[in-house]
Amino acid sequence: MGVYTVAITGASGSAYGMRLVEQLLTRGHGVTLIFTDAGRQVTAYELGFSLPSEGAREAVLRFLDVDETARLRMVDDADIFDAVASGTRKVDAMVVCPATMGFVGSVASGLASDLAERAADVMLKERRTLVLVPRETPLNLIHLRNLTSVTEAGAIVVPAMPAFYAKPKTIDDLVDFVVGKVLDVLGVEHDLLRRWGGG
Ligand SMILES: Cc1cc2nc3c(=O)[nH]c(=O)nc-3n(C[C@H](O)[C@H](O)[C@H](O)COP(=O)(O)O)c2cc1C
Repeated sequence: MGVYTVAITGASGSAYGMRLVEQLLTRGHGVTLIFTDAGRQVTAYELGFSLPSEGAREAVLRFLDVDETARLRMVDDADIFDAVASGTRKVDAMVVCPATMGFVGSVASGLASDLAERAADVMLKERRTLVLVPRETPLNLIHLRNLTSVTEAGAIVVPAMPAFYAKPKTIDDLVDFVVGKVLDVLGVEHDLLRRWGGG
């Protein structure tokens, strides 16, 4: 089973990040989950889920309807002493989902100014898998340059762009398409999307 770090930042689409965490946990994988401060606020606004300061882990598990035995660690973004701040911690991959353009810019500049940014920086320096799921439109030249920089540094950019050839009927279908693409990149088994041509 894999060990993953997931960061939910303040871009629209925290539903993608929460569904990703739910899928990883229910498939037996370990997840360290970090919300940026803006990620926490946008999640509360879009999903009606407010992360409590006490009992955050239990609250996330309840919201996701995932069993208490799930391998979930919740870590505060300010906790720069956490294990994922170090390359010595074994992590298979990190996914930032959704990723703000600010977060992408910080990674592109190597700022590492909080735990999520530092954990992403560590993935790149250790040559491990870092997946960024940006959600912004339209994109300015700075966004495009930063997306190029992080790709050159080894990150994989999976934009939150649901496709319509699968004939989605619900918002959940749209979310699942994007999360399915992320899980494909991680090499994690799932049944979230219908594959073109079957299989
Ligand atoms: C409702 C709402 C939606 C937002 N959507 C986006 C978005 O889709 N993409 C983005 O890059 N920033 C978006 N932002 C702006 C970020 O939340 C803001 O830049 C924040 O400072 C990012 O901080 P973080 O990267 O530490 O999470 C949104 C803000 C709000 C309040």
